[in-house]
Amino acid sequence: MGKRAAKPLIIAIDGPAGSGKSTVSKIVAKRLALLYIDTGAMYRALTLKAMRQGLNLEDEDALVSLAGSTKIGLEEKDKLHVFLDGEDVSLAIRTPGVTANVKYIARVPGVRHEMVALQRLIGQKHCGAVLEGRDIGTVVFPNADYKFYLDASPEVRAKRRCKELIESGQKVSEISVKEDILTRDDSDMKRNVGALKKCDDAIFIDTTGLSIDGVTEKILSYICA
Ligand code: DC
Repeated sequence: MGKRAAKPLIIAIDGPAGSGKSTVSKIVAKRLALLYIDTGAMYRALTLKAMRQGLNLEDEDALVSLAGSTKIGLEEKDKLHVFLDGEDVSLAIRTPGVTANVKYIARVPGVRHEMVALQRLIGQKHCGAVLEGRDIGTVVFPNADYKFYLDASPEVRAKRRCKELIESGQKVSEISVKEDILTRDDSDMKRNVGALKKCDDAIFIDTTGLSIDGVTEKILSYICA
């Protein structure tokens, strides 16, 4: 009888924008030699395509059909690269226009269905993955080996996001970033499918007063216990 492949290790990290989950998820994935999957980048890539095609973002049928005919890929080189039908769109998906429009794409059940299927497929490849998003522990991998929910005060989240955006060359103010974060929290929490919420079996970590290292070590302490 042949050897059975080990079950992939799945780590779900959910939380709102600026909670620290991207930075920490990348480090945790590296430390555990797992894939890092940024699910938000996938919704952003589809948003970019819909915008480029000038689609009516309220037209759910058109968005579902777009999702079904689009190839989204993630590849880790020096950093995570996001591919849209073969084109590297890693920078293009971070513009304020995409950030403002992603809610129209993320709220469509048929679109989420496609994205979730893709996320499950990639997540189960190799030895497993660290997936970060909004609905990983609730929908994508409800049986994940470890589930974490990260949050922080809106002020601290805005500060972090603002720093990231300025470093990537965008001109933003902390006030406008905070407003944007609160608007996105609202649409992420209120949509009918894949809404952002902490599931009962997720470990909650308030990252407000914690450093990146502090959050990373906390997460690893549960996994490596
Ligand atoms: O993580 P992010 O800010 O790059 O995500 C962009 C948007 O994508 C976010 O506002 C909500 C959506 N999203 C989602 O609906 N489900 C996920 N699993 C990840 C992100």
